Amino acid sequence: MHQTALVADGIYWVGASDRRLALFENVFPVPRGVSYNAYLVLDEKTVLLDTVDKAVSAVFYENLQFLLNGRQLDYVIVNHVEPDHAANLGELTLRYPEVKIVGNALTLEMLQRFFDFSHFNYDFAAKAVTVKEGDTLVVGKRVFTFVMAKMVHWPEAMATYEATAKILFSADAFGTFGALNGNLFADEVNFERDWLDDARRYYTNIVGKYGNQAQTLLDKASSLDLAMICPLHGPLWRKHLGWFIDKYRRWSSYTPEDNAVLIAYASVYGGTENAAQILAAALAQKGVRDIKMYDVSNTHPSVIVAEAFRCSHWVFASTTYNAGIFCHMETALLDLAAHNLQNRHVALIENGSWAPTAGKLMRDIFAGMRNITVLDDTVSLKSAVRASDRAALEKLADKLAAALTPPVRRDAKTSPVQNEVFFNISYGLYALTAKDGGKDNGCIVNTLTQITDNPKRVSIAVNKQNYTHAMIMQTGVFNVSILHIDAPFAVFQRYGFHSGRDTDKFAGVAVKRSANGLIYDDIYANAFLSGKVVESRDYGTHTVFVAEITEAGVIADTPAMTYAYYFANVKPQPAVGVKKTGYVCKICGYIHESETLPPDFVCPLCKHGAADFEKL
Ligand code: FEO
Repeated sequence: MHQTALVADGIYWVGASDRRLALFENVFPVPRGVSYNAYLVLDEKTVLLDTVDKAVSAVFYENLQFLLNGRQLDYVIVNHVEPDHAANLGELTLRYPEVKIVGNALTLEMLQRFFDFSHFNYDFAAKAVTVKEGDTLVVGKRVFTFVMAKMVHWPEAMATYEATAKILFSADAFGTFGALNGNLFADEVNFERDWLDDARRYYTNIVGKYGNQAQTLLDKASSLDLAMICPLHGPLWRKHLGWFIDKYRRWSSYTPEDNAVLIAYASVYGGTENAAQILAAALAQKGVRDIKMYDVSNTHPSVIVAEAFRCSHWVFASTTYNAGIFCHMETALLDLAAHNLQNRHVALIENGSWAPTAGKLMRDIFAGMRNITVLDDTVSLKSAVRASDRAALEKLADKLAAALTPPVRRDAKTSPVQNEVFFNISYGLYALTAKDGGKDNGCIVNTLTQITDNPKRVSIAVNKQNYTHAMIMQTGVFNVSILHIDAPFAVFQRYGFHSGRDTDKFAGVAVKRSANGLIYDDIYANAFLSGKVVESRDYGTHTVFVAEITEAGVIADTPAMTYAYYFANVKPQPAVGVKKTGYVCKICGYIHESETLPPDFVCPLCKHGAADFEKL
């Protein structure tokens, strides 16, 4: 019987979950199963995005047949050739012989390595449609744009963006191990408590080696106006996208997620385990709270890899075995190296009743990895832990604790005034809207401050070059929408990167209005305020308005966007491999390609001055 679910108007989940699978890719244990997500779009044309693993074909075809309800399937977009998503393509062409297979050149080439389509009486050469980066496919109301995602997770992988529903069909990216339990969306479950560990284990083991390529995809995604992310595995994302994207930013840049200690040990008769326990207890006594211990003999390496991505500090303790590293420990360490893990501190404990060698051999593995700092004091045991070993373990705990929370005392550079200081102020980001006669306008500001509670008054500084400034000067009223962390870069582009004097920033946008008749943002803001100016003062480049609040309402419980969050998670990072000379605006990323930057230069996009530029 079919098991479909509505994703958005005319867009359906047609996938299935598998709880019988023991090992995903015949490698990774999936005790909670796994879901294979496929999506069907019903428009003037019918479009399937990917298929599913062979194991769940029956339900998938029932889903498809039910929703198509007699219609032909016109297109299947293949975002990923790996058989957990493409295994059904041969049979699909048998069932829907008119279907056109859409993929990039490598996708189409690789598909023919998996299928001989002549066996399915399918004229592949005539019916395959080749697409490349930025190409679009219009199927009625819905418009698909193709975004290449090389090595996330295979070389042909791509994502597909549907602009009208603002959905990124992200292929393996943003996927998660675990069968779906009825709830389709991440915001319907306690994702951080129940799913994050599996999401981390999925990303780090499947794609973790290819951090640079994942970063490239994240950069592309950050320039899209995103309302939803639909991956090929696990829950779909329609809220708090920034939170999950931040996890991906950390994992793909090999930045520790937590200030935490992973202790993995290999012990035959308990001596090495005893040493690891003593070290853990010593760390705890020194105030370290996030410590996770694993016996590598009964922990799958994929768990060690995932925890190594999460934790900032590692301890590996291994007995010597056949004059080498204990077999399960060696497997785990080689797996870490294979996943390109970087930027960590490591402490080592070795054991060996007559000739301990594991310490040196483990150190050799870490020497081949990037930016791994191995503490000098390897603790070397011979069989059981002796009193003298305990002192060495205490010393190692001291060093590790110090590395975990190093006391830092720095001199402030104060001459004459460091511009960077002002980026450390914890601003929020706000959409400021006003109106002049029949015309609405808005801009982005970071200068809202509450002044008094009774009466409720705020101040806001607005650049005089902004059209919104002229409107407030004329009318004395404005709205401020407090942007939240799910606001994509496109929102900042709309409000901030062109002048309302030349364009209508709200053309084609369904807007909400407050009692004063002004627009507020009901999608990407968590609250809004209406202000009536009671005083204004000229400060050269800016006017500071003091206003009494006439209306204020909460819209959503999504956390507010801060300046720091915007820079870390929303503003696109410079494209990898693109080398330009000149100056870059730290606010919006505009690049002024010149050897010099005039002191009175104003960013043509966001209107910030030369002080907000830095040399590339
Ligand atoms: Fe879910 Fe790379 O396949």
